[in-house]
Amino acid sequence: MSGAQGKVVVITGASSGIGEATALVLAGRGAKVVLGARGADRLQGLAARIAAAGGEAAYARTDVKRRTDLSDLVTLACERYGKLDVLVNNAGIGPISPLDDLRVEEWEEMIDINIKGVLYGIAAALPVFRKQGFGHFINTASTAGHKTVPNQAVYSATKFAVRAISEGLRQEAGDKLRVTIISPGFVRTDFVESVTSSELKAQLVASRDKFAMPPDAIARAIAFAIEQPADVDVNEIVVRPTAQA
Ligand SMILES: NC(=O)c1ccc[n+]([C@@H]2O[C@H](COP(=O)([O-])OP(=O)(O)OC[C@H]3O[C@@H](n4cnc5c(N)ncnc54)[C@H](OP(=O)(O)O)[C@@H]3O)[C@@H](O)[C@H]2O)c1
Repeated sequence: MSGAQGKVVVITGASSGIGEATALVLAGRGAKVVLGARGADRLQGLAARIAAAGGEAAYARTDVKRRTDLSDLVTLACERYGKLDVLVNNAGIGPISPLDDLRVEEWEEMIDINIKGVLYGIAAALPVFRKQGFGHFINTASTAGHKTVPNQAVYSATKFAVRAISEGLRQEAGDKLRVTIISPGFVRTDFVESVTSSELKAQLVASRDKFAMPPDAIARAIAFAIEQPADVDVNEIVVRPTAQA
């Protein structure tokens, strides 16, 4: 089966930004989307918008730091819609800072959400995909997963890890499963809100407002990977705003 029509797609971090845009684009193309994030009110509002536009959506409050939340989200998709075609492991945070600041709790949050959250997603969906004989992982990395710069050491490390885990998964996946890495450049979302250094945050907000791309640019890239025939695996897509160096 190719195209997004009728596919069941779980999306983490679906309450805003890239995840929300992905839910809207895929639902608009006939996918059944299952939305996870901590902000249940926002998920409820998004699911209602999708339903009002004639689409299908379910949601569940999900903290990707909790392995059982990911299993429950995958179970919801399977029970509600009978299968799972795609897991978009998208939830992530980026409270960047210089290492000298020793914002150790923020380092731990990034590791827990950006790396362990993706692993918990894989642990939840992989047995389902194996049993079905089909399935597609889409993991959101970053251009920071290709190259690091000052202030981004830990964030960047988590995204290098997402790429390494995804590539290892692809090599182990066999000929029935697909694995795609999405590496966005700067996207116009609430992402910078997690930055606690007010100086860095102000710089990032100024750059974002100057040249970041809209989140549906990434949603369309995700849709492109999903819409390929089952024997075609788009391994990585890097999307930057033209104005990003
Ligand atoms: N924006 C960029 O420039 C950019 C560039 C490259 C890569 N990315 C990546 O793109 C992904 C999405 O980010 P975004 O730009 O769309 O930012 P965003 O608007 O801040 O969205 C982040 C999403 O992750 C969710 N989230 C955060 N912690 C979570 C947790 N513990 N459990 C479940 N969900 C959680 C948030 O929802 P709740 O708060 O409701 O849980 C929200 O839905 C991230 O992986 C990020 O690293 C972003």
